[in-house]
Amino acid sequence: MALVPFDDRDGWIWLDGEMVPWREAKLHVLTHGLHYGSGVFEGERAYDGNIFKLHEHTGRLITSGQILGFNIPWSADEIDAACQEVLARNNLTEAYIRPIAWRGSEMLAVSAQQTKIHLAIAAWAWPNLFGQNRMKGVRLAMAKWRRPAPETAPTASKASGLYMIGTLSKHAAEAEGFDDALMLDYKGDIAEATGANVFMVFDGELHTPTPICFLDGITRRTVMALARNRQMKVVERTIKAEELQDATEVFLAGTAAEVTPVRAIAHHSYTPGAITETLLKDYEALVRMSPEEVTRRVG
Ligand SMILES: Cc1ncc(COP(=O)(O)O)c(C=O)c1O
Repeated sequence: MALVPFDDRDGWIWLDGEMVPWREAKLHVLTHGLHYGSGVFEGERAYDGNIFKLHEHTGRLITSGQILGFNIPWSADEIDAACQEVLARNNLTEAYIRPIAWRGSEMLAVSAQQTKIHLAIAAWAWPNLFGQNRMKGVRLAMAKWRRPAPETAPTASKASGLYMIGTLSKHAAEAEGFDDALMLDYKGDIAEATGANVFMVFDGELHTPTPICFLDGITRRTVMALARNRQMKVVERTIKAEELQDATEVFLAGTAAEVTPVRAIAHHSYTPGAITETLLKDYEALVRMSPEEVTRRVG
């Protein structure tokens, strides 16, 4: 399929309070966010015109900025409304939405106290990260890079700079023919994939690593609630890399990946099974319910 560059598309992007034509949504090369990674972003999905868990995503965006030491100069309600406006203006009902906030170009040094904080919101059609046949499962390589300790990096923020090791890991995995990479944390325990959280089934129970140094994903929390609604036992704990061989099912959960079964991690093979399929279907049904019904079912 021909690649359509992201800077050469039709449509509208919300930039600092105004809707601008897609190709004109530009910034200066001496932007702090580009040089020093001082940006935070979100990834959201709209289904049937409703942005799933919009207010939670907006809340995380604002908190991510605060963790990096800045306040986004728009309220949560204004950001929610802008996300909806971007969808409508681009005539999208099924879409991926990308809000991003960053430090501007007023100062360019490590210290950047007087930089203006910018906010942009774009949306585009982006079907599941791993395509339509995902029930057969994706294959993960083991990443060489590890998630840093919370004392080493602001790991609770969805900060652009933290994705550097994700891109390195995913590129290395793709070069070896895998779909994605599984990252360990700084202690050598299982952390997450490069853009999604991981779940494993042990003895019929659903286990997932405690999010100490990576995002406690909105999809992750949703899947845990769906599993509990089904009376499944859900366990958050440290999962050792040696335990990979004992898992009977493995899947990823994230806004872009949704629920995606895993059929291999390095040389370990898995058969996507009943628990994965049940939660995949429950998630697919949930995202198409009204926001009120979503809150009623999973909080
Ligand atoms: C590194 C990483 N971990 C986990 C997630 C899952 O988070 P969420 O379910 O909130 O999209 C994402 C996606 O945003 C991610 O990029």
